[in-house]
Amino acid sequence: MLNKIKLIVKKKNRKKIVSLTAYSKNIAKILDKYCDIILVGDSLGNVLYGMDNTHQTTLSNMIQHGLSVRKGVKKSLLVVDMPKNTYNSTHDAVKNAKLILKNTKCDAVKIESNYKNSNIIRSLVKAKIPVMGHTGYTPQFKSRFKVAGKTIFERDKLIQDALKIEKAGAFSIVLECIIPSTAKKITDALKIPTIGIGSSLYCDGQILVTDDILGLSGFYPKFVKKYVNLNTAIEKAVKKYSKEIIGKKFPKKQNYLYGK
Ligand code: KIV
Repeated sequence: MLNKIKLIVKKKNRKKIVSLTAYSKNIAKILDKYCDIILVGDSLGNVLYGMDNTHQTTLSNMIQHGLSVRKGVKKSLLVVDMPKNTYNSTHDAVKNAKLILKNTKCDAVKIESNYKNSNIIRSLVKAKIPVMGHTGYTPQFKSRFKVAGKTIFERDKLIQDALKIEKAGAFSIVLECIIPSTAKKITDALKIPTIGIGSSLYCDGQILVTDDILGLSGFYPKFVKKYVNLNTAIEKAVKKYSKEIIGKKFPKKQNYLYGK
């Protein structure tokens, strides 16, 4: 069964969809056992490259990391983010999405909507490119964080946007930082699955940035749950390594490739 159809079936059967981000093969290989969707997010701009936001993430960044992640993904649906300014027109969107698909062999691309990109999604779908939508707080179009869907006006605007994204042919949609009651209304209104990040349990699935749940990124807003503190574990290992080298405890004879 096509992964995309499996997602719709999960929504119908009220089974939750599991999703995380990956930027490299080794991490992707682990996630692949437990995730329905693996996203190569443009968040790699800030998380990996130390940029202030996602605005400077490039198409070649996405292709490079998409290629690496592809090598670790066998069963999950692999989605690659289209970075800012790569889908300003339908022509650019189709050209750049085809480049991503051809070079990474991913299953789909994701684009942020900012209330105006359903026509872009429609053109991509027409060109047989599977698309995941993204509404609510859309980092590529914002310079300041804001929770979405608080007022009746905003709620209705978001519902309309989500419906337009669905009508344009997206197979799923990310809801980012939307208040619970609005996230619920959107999830109930759509046939396609909603994948929430900071948008409550009223979504058909959840996504988080893997570096955040592993305690690597240093970014822990309220909606993130840190499942392990890898920063501490890595520091402990590196400290021991350094100590053993300085104390001439490593390498030992069993680490020698030849001789004594
Ligand atoms: O870039 C990203 O990582 C995302 C999120 C939905 C996690 O878009």
